[in-house]
Amino acid sequence: MPKDTTYTSPHPDDDGLFPYTADDDAVWGELFRRQMDFLPGKVAPEYLEGVAALGLNDQKAPQVKEIDARLHALTGAGAHGVPAIIPPSKFYDLLSQRKFPVATFLRRREHMDYIEEPDLFHEVFGHCPMLTNGPYADFIEGFGKRAKALGKGYSWHMFRLFWFTVEFGMIRTKDGLRAYGAGIVSSPAEAAHAMGSDALMQDFDLLTVFRTPYRIDIVQPTYFVIDSFDQLAGLREADFGALIDKAKATGDLPALFPAKEAS
Ligand SMILES: [Fe+2]
Repeated sequence: MPKDTTYTSPHPDDDGLFPYTADDDAVWGELFRRQMDFLPGKVAPEYLEGVAALGLNDQKAPQVKEIDARLHALTGAGAHGVPAIIPPSKFYDLLSQRKFPVATFLRRREHMDYIEEPDLFHEVFGHCPMLTNGPYADFIEGFGKRAKALGKGYSWHMFRLFWFTVEFGMIRTKDGLRAYGAGIVSSPAEAAHAMGSDALMQDFDLLTVFRTPYRIDIVQPTYFVIDSFDQLAGLREADFGALIDKAKATGDLPALFPAKEAS
């Protein structure tokens, strides 16, 4: 979480359940209904199948423990509650175990439209449905293993790959381009922007991804488009280390966004 956050992570009870209030349930429900009304025709069918498979609904904020059990039964993946931002080594270690780190606090009403730090809605609604897809879960696990093995010197570039797939990935379908990245599916502004005409869509290319800078606090000026989740799973075989070395040697591509203003 950013240093100036006013959020604290809730503690689970002895049964591993988080104490969400009736107001939390209402906030979750509003966010859920708004996105589910907005997303058809904009997101990958596999994503919507995942929402149904996990039993997500507008009645209650979900419990990580229950999502974890469903994911485990479906694809052997999992969800692991964490205190918002965790060190990269811990993050990659959980992914390598096919477990997705899930921040467990839920945003308040003043942040319905945008929150910079990932909250329960972003994590569960954004990320967890795709983990019901086998090839996607294979990619997550393989990515975590490779990032862990490559170590610190490669972490920054590996996170670019994560950013342009898991967070902001797009996929080509028979009905046109669709989103599968959590940062798009959990944000009305990002979803509208990604499906609009001024975003630059690029065919997915690993070296280009490793050379592409991004900013976390703006709608994305460019997205990378995969052809299938099998393509994503197949990336595990790529020589990430050699490609990142090449990306470092050739340097970053020019940023498609203005520099962040000093605050
Ligand atoms: Fe995320």
